[in-house]
Amino acid sequence: MKSLLRKFPSTRLRRNRSKNSLRSILAESKITVDDLIQPIFIKENLSGYEPIQSMPNINRLGANVLEAELRNIVDTGIKAVALFPVIDEAKKDSVGTEALNQDNFLNVEISKIKDLFPELIIIADVALDPYTDHGHDGVLNKVGDVDNDLSLDVLKNQALSLAKAGADVIAPSDMMDGRIKVIRDALEENNFKETVILSYAAKYSSKFYGPFKDAVESAKFFGNKNKDTYQMSPANKNEALQEVAMDINEGADIVMVKPGMPYLDIVSSVKETFKVPTFVYQVSGEYSMLKGAIDNGWLSEEVMKESILSFKRAGADCILTYAALEVAKEL
Ligand code: PBG
Repeated sequence: MKSLLRKFPSTRLRRNRSKNSLRSILAESKITVDDLIQPIFIKENLSGYEPIQSMPNINRLGANVLEAELRNIVDTGIKAVALFPVIDEAKKDSVGTEALNQDNFLNVEISKIKDLFPELIIIADVALDPYTDHGHDGVLNKVGDVDNDLSLDVLKNQALSLAKAGADVIAPSDMMDGRIKVIRDALEENNFKETVILSYAAKYSSKFYGPFKDAVESAKFFGNKNKDTYQMSPANKNEALQEVAMDINEGADIVMVKPGMPYLDIVSSVKETFKVPTFVYQVSGEYSMLKGAIDNGWLSEEVMKESILSFKRAGADCILTYAALEVAKEL
């Protein structure tokens, strides 16, 4: 780059940093409400709010307070939420049967929300972990590993039931091979031609999901098992590009990288390589470590915005973050 060869004092990079207004108009990346998506936990049979121990300020919501909470979110200008259900333990089994019940808790709530807030974009996860008694995202084979092809059929039907309920965006987070094609074909065949597929394309097998398992109460089922045979190894980057390429070819409209902060190099490469809509998920553990440090007075509140800005700088179009509402209020 020629400009980098220019010499002091003809070049003083501090000139452009000398005033607030100058810094502001020269900012290469900015956060607006359009960049923020709020993930929400809704719990079956709950009334009111239930704090999540490992996620400061985040609650499980009962159906009776969902409207008020969504109103808060919509009022800030946020346009999309990602819903995660906490399912009655008695309804969990080894194959996630309840996920396919068209009248299950999540589907009923999705329909209600679409009536109340027709413009709000609802993103619904496709994965069986809220519904299985082993906490895995798919169906197990005889040796206890998640069976790819058996899982595809269930996930396809789960996706269809979510689309029928009114979800605008279907977000497969299961990491089975071939699931985007199976889901896209099923949506087309059933005339859901406008249902968007947001693929968790590069989803790593990460310990940063810890608090989420607590939030959806799958932790006690899951114990100290892991998802290493289907989620990606944190060591790999080329493989992430392969995952993304596959999902785009199979019909994904948007791809996502997850977690966020420890994987900014992946966000950047995905965006530069494919130039398709690219989302990033600042996951539960990332949120909790920042929030925990802020609450302890070890870090200033501004780190939250700084972390979100880092996603924009890396090339992300949208950020799923538990801090969406609080950050949107400040914008
Ligand atoms: C489940 C799912 C997970 C998250 C979103 N969907 C957990 C997992 O895969 O183990 C994690 C989100 C977070 O940690 O905030 N398929």
